Amino acid sequence: MIKNLYSSPIYTSNSSKELLDEVRSFISKISIPSEIRANSTKGGFQSDSKIFEYNDKSIINLKRFIATEVAKYWPHIYEALTGQKSESNVPAFDLWGWVTSLNAGGFNSPHIHPRSTISGVFYLQTPFEIIKNVDNNFSGWIGSMDPRSNSQIWPLSSHLNYFFVPPVEGSLVLFPSYLQHFVPPFNAKDERIAIAFNLRHKTTQLLK
Ligand SMILES: [Fe+2]
Repeated sequence: MIKNLYSSPIYTSNSSKELLDEVRSFISKISIPSEIRANSTKGGFQSDSKIFEYNDKSIINLKRFIATEVAKYWPHIYEALTGQKSESNVPAFDLWGWVTSLNAGGFNSPHIHPRSTISGVFYLQTPFEIIKNVDNNFSGWIGSMDPRSNSQIWPLSSHLNYFFVPPVEGSLVLFPSYLQHFVPPFNAKDERIAIAFNLRHKTTQLLK
């Protein structure tokens, strides 16, 4: 028997072009208040955390898409957090999200999302310079850091310290909220726009 303990599953999937187009169109039309708070975003804009409270069809469809993907992700994060196979249905979650827009030179310093279970990002607009990784440094990608800091006491030469995911337009990334993540500064003419969100389970079953 072997148990794969303390892993940190990162999930990616792609939405339909229709969903990407309708969400992007809706976001471009509305004026969203920014939220002034101690956050990790520099060189950009971060909205308040009420983006999923809009009743627009695009936002409703985005929430459905997130729910579908979280259901697929759930067995993996459940096993990562508990060391057990999930035998229950996906729990109910509180969901809140916000728009992030980074300009050239903007970045997110390493941070976690406290008081949350699963965090994620849905990418709306990504400058081509970022996707092409022109500086070969993953600028503008989302990076995550190995949470097992003690595992580096005597690391393998191929020890994984960082893992980067490209912010492909229309793609969704889900990860444990405790996972430190960041966006390195990038150079591009256009903005990098995404919707970031948190899901917090409503029951205490994970803690039993
Ligand atoms: Fe974040």
